[in-house]
Amino acid sequence: MVRPLAVLGGTPAFAEKLHVGKPNILNPQRVLDRIRQAMDSYVLTHSGPLVTEFERRIADAAGVTHCVALCNASIGLQIMARVLGLHGEVIMPSYTFVATAHTMRWEGLTPVFCDVDLATGQLDPEEVRRLITPRTTAVLGVHLWGNPAPVDALADIAAEHGLALFYDSAHAFGSAHQGKPIGGFGRAEVFSFHATKFLNAFEGGAVVTDDPDLAAQVRAMHNYGRDKAGAVRGLGTNAKMTEPAAAMGLASLEGKEELIRVNTERHAHYAAGLDGVPGISLRRPEPGDRVNHSYVVMEVDSRAAGLSRDQVITALHAENVLARDHFHPGCHRTPPYAEAGRLHTPRPLPRTEALSARVVLLPTGLGVSVEQVDEVCAVIRALVDQAPAVRRTLAR
Ligand SMILES: Cc1ncc(COP(=O)(O)O)c(C=O)c1O
Repeated sequence: MVRPLAVLGGTPAFAEKLHVGKPNILNPQRVLDRIRQAMDSYVLTHSGPLVTEFERRIADAAGVTHCVALCNASIGLQIMARVLGLHGEVIMPSYTFVATAHTMRWEGLTPVFCDVDLATGQLDPEEVRRLITPRTTAVLGVHLWGNPAPVDALADIAAEHGLALFYDSAHAFGSAHQGKPIGGFGRAEVFSFHATKFLNAFEGGAVVTDDPDLAAQVRAMHNYGRDKAGAVRGLGTNAKMTEPAAAMGLASLEGKEELIRVNTERHAHYAAGLDGVPGISLRRPEPGDRVNHSYVVMEVDSRAAGLSRDQVITALHAENVLARDHFHPGCHRTPPYAEAGRLHTPRPLPRTEALSARVVLLPTGLGVSVEQVDEVCAVIRALVDQAPAVRRTLAR
């Protein structure tokens, strides 16, 4: 029997919308109890007991000695630019959330966009080398979709050229490369604990590092440049995490292994359900990497599938599956970087362009059951089976 598709006049496969990045809320009662405790004690911010405990446990989980919890990752990246004393150009992928670029530009630096390795979606180290100029000051790696960046090759390049290396690890808390947790690579790594991220603290972030001096500078800068005694020692901002955010973060942290299990199970169902669908493939972790599977990354080969990536997304939306095209079209095609052209994009980015035309992110996490995942796969299979009719309808 031909499966009825919403885009062809059928009823949507799902009565309620399935979202990519629906917040995972683990143990809400524990969150509320801790917030109540914080309110009873009137300690709501300023490195209270919950933030202090959160920092210790994040450092442990990331396998590092220092963690400074923050109100978000963006300010963490900006503080890192200041602490590392960066100037001039910072090499980074274009294929990332725009915050990677904006935070450096905000600090007066010049993001220089680098192409990716099509097989992994991560920075291509050989391309990084080609982009180094006398103005280059740092490489900002990104562990895209929670999969580790090529950390060993980037460390070699940074050492050879005397560049600062640090990571935008917004997607990658809980992931590991060859048994070493993400958090311990480069001079420091910056996590995001935004509500849609693997570890949810409503909004939040952290700088983690093994460098005590760097950690002390970040700690001072995140609190108006003040030292432990409260004396102002230099320039700073307000980037503090609140106690309620730490309460949420701690509950997320306590459920970390369960969430990895849930995400891994859903990923396995997607892999099985999409197996053999022409033109459809699913990204898998590299051998030796452990990933949090916070993102399910499907790719559409439009020739083989008979549908473009955008047609697949439109048809999925009609079924109430709110699939996303992140990070289309890449930072280099986004204002203000697109207008400045070669300043930010000195070399063409053909693999970034190819990737950004193929990727579809699918819903996962606690907000979607394995049965729903199976149903999403059945819908995608039916879309490809009926591609000519879908194409004709969408062209009208
Ligand atoms: C790759 C990347 N970097 C940085 C950020 C910024 O994180 P935050 O929202 O915590 O500032 C995000 C958030 O979406 C991201 O995806």
